[in-house]
Amino acid sequence: MKDQTFLKTMVKRVGARRALEIGTFDGTSALAMAEMLPDDGTLITCEINPGLAALARKRLSRSPHGHKVDVRVGPALEILPTLAGQFDLIFVDADTRNYVHYYRRGLELLAPAGALLLDNTQGMTLGAVDPAADPAIAAILELRRLITADRSITADLVPVRDGVLVVTKAPLA
Ligand SMILES: C[S@@+](CC[C@H](N)C(=O)[O-])C[C@H]1O[C@@H](n2cnc3c(N)ncnc32)[C@H](O)[C@@H]1O
Repeated sequence: MKDQTFLKTMVKRVGARRALEIGTFDGTSALAMAEMLPDDGTLITCEINPGLAALARKRLSRSPHGHKVDVRVGPALEILPTLAGQFDLIFVDADTRNYVHYYRRGLELLAPAGALLLDNTQGMTLGAVDPAADPAIAAILELRRLITADRSITADLVPVRDGVLVVTKAPLA
């Protein structure tokens, strides 16, 4: 089982009132984040699989924090353009091959003092690999190139879950 402590800490650290998740699965991480949101806080979570979305909704309905969570069904690539306003915390945990798109759109949706989290980014530390062998690896390598070149953000790879990249809009200099 994955530890949800890091996500909970991040919700508290940025004082999140409005959060976004890509990749709901059974709602475990959504519920963990919802528990840390204020009672009028909200989390939109996107899930491509209708069966999993239904399972997550069922679990959430049994929690006193479930009312904060809005499960949207469909490909995140189609849901993200429909979202407006700013999010204090964005957690990306699905569809690695489209991480560059989620990174770019995530920065557009991220509040100035918010944090964008990308899970499964341990591959950022990979040395020489063949991007042609796996689109997910290619996406991670492209993400690393973008982040290295972007002086307007700060990024840290935290060794929790499957390697979480924490991106904020606070430049170092
Ligand atoms: C790693 S699981 C998410 C786990 C969840 N965040 C947690 O920690 O409890 C990834 C989920 O994303 C969903 N998914 C995959 N591709 C997607 C896409 N393009 N848009 C939305 N959801 C997607 C999968 O069906 C799966 O349920």
